[in-house]
Amino acid sequence: MAASRLSVLFSFLLVFSALLPPHAWGAPVAVASKSMPPSRAERLLDAARDPEFFDWLKGIRRRIHQQPELAFEEYNTSELIRSELDAMGIEYTWPVARTGVVASIGSGEGPCFALRADMDALALEELVDWEYKSKERGKMHACGHDAHVTMLLGAAKLLQCHKNDLKGSVKLVFQPAEEGHAGAYHVLQEGVLDNVDAIFGMHVDPTIPTGTVGSRPGPILAASGRFLATIKGRGGHAASPHRTIDPVIATSFAILSLQQLVSRESDPLESKVVSVGTVKAGEAHNVIPESVTFGGTFRSVTTEGLYSLLQRIREVIEKQAAVHQCTATVDFMEKTLIPYPATVNDERMYAHAKKVAEDLVGETNVRLSPLVMGAEDFSFYTQKMPSAVFNLGVKNESIGVLHHLHSPYFFVDEKALPIGAAFHAAVALSYLDLRHSNLTEVYIQDIS
Ligand SMILES: *[C@@H]1O[C@H](CO)[C@@H](O)[C@H](O)[C@H]1NC(C)=O
Ligand SMILES: *[C@@H]1O[C@H](CO)[C@@H](O)[C@H](O)[C@H]1NC(C)=O
Ligand SMILES: *[C@@H]1O[C@H](CO)[C@@H](O)[C@H](O)[C@H]1NC(C)=O
Repeated sequence: MAASRLSVLFSFLLVFSALLPPHAWGAPVAVASKSMPPSRAERLLDAARDPEFFDWLKGIRRRIHQQPELAFEEYNTSELIRSELDAMGIEYTWPVARTGVVASIGSGEGPCFALRADMDALALEELVDWEYKSKERGKMHACGHDAHVTMLLGAAKLLQCHKNDLKGSVKLVFQPAEEGHAGAYHVLQEGVLDNVDAIFGMHVDPTIPTGTVGSRPGPILAASGRFLATIKGRGGHAASPHRTIDPVIATSFAILSLQQLVSRESDPLESKVVSVGTVKAGEAHNVIPESVTFGGTFRSVTTEGLYSLLQRIREVIEKQAAVHQCTATVDFMEKTLIPYPATVNDERMYAHAKKVAEDLVGETNVRLSPLVMGAEDFSFYTQKMPSAVFNLGVKNESIGVLHHLHSPYFFVDEKALPIGAAFHAAVALSYLDLRHSNLTEVYIQDIS
């Protein structure tokens, strides 16, 4: 009885209060209309958007942008990273895989969470005309790695402010040579990440607007390899083909046969690609050349699929050469340009980072990214530990940011930098909190 009378009174008060103007309780209107206190992710974002912090981020990104360095040559980029870490009082290991830097924040005790940024630029002439255009001829940060390094330094600064709250350690991996040279593989080889429980990475994405992020659970990027084949015959006068062994014909059959690896031998629901991108034969119209070299890329959404393609590419080229009385060699350059495995997001790490993203930019700004046949050496981490890579929107048509990655017109909306810095920091902090909290013991056992 008493309870029901109380609840009637309470309902009355609620209705009554709803009829009052919001400021009637004496609270400022803005606060009264905000239902929840800001989440930690939002507070980190506020800190990163502070004008002084934002200017610092922009300054770093522009300095790196002006001095692009190719794979395993990121000496100045590495030096810039180390001097910023020194200024923050953060310890690091260097060199890792020649130019890489792995910084550590926190107790040094486990659990240990890693954040990764790649450092290298592309061999490409920048065609964007702006104040901080590349000063290196034929080199450009056209894949946003300048932004990646900047955002990780931003995260370092944010995390350093929270270092006493860290329930474990964070390693910041400034990794060389993502563009084709498997820098991630070499970083892992050095053992500096052996004690890491899980890792998170980010890539700028010019297909989604600034202020949005995207990713997907499971496979997100393809496994990728390349090949270079040489078919050798016997050259001679083109007027007497019967006195020659024509490697051009053998190559033509080989290239056509390669088309069937995807169309006839692969499960249509398991995407694969075989593309021939270069063919070099003779020089003269009336000479049949001694040999032909050709090469291309092959991809698969699964790592196993990549290796079965590799084997079939070799067989098809060698056997088509034999049919035409030629010999063939096929080089997959596995020693120098290690094939990339598929990038597979761990479902729970994905869910964790997605939750953080929702706190950071709001649920409606978190997208499901498509699976694409591009490749990324973050995949080497995904083979070793629970990992997730997210795309960070940088598209902004009003300032001309709409060109694709690897375009000479590629440009980044710098407003994304504070978002990326806060996203990194928030994912790491909340991962360590979750590990710590015994409420989520079950969840965490699954993560690691
Ligand atoms: C690296 O720094 C040195 C010394 O400041 C400078 O001379 C050189 O041009 C820089 N290299 C690149 C690629 O920016
Ligand atoms: C695009 O950039 C302009 C200028 O900086 C800014 O006002 C606008 O908010 C940006 N758009 C998005 C989607 O962030
Ligand atoms: C979890 O916390 C409760 C109380 O907070 C404690 O009694 C229990 O021992 C803890 N369990 C573990 C596995 O630490």
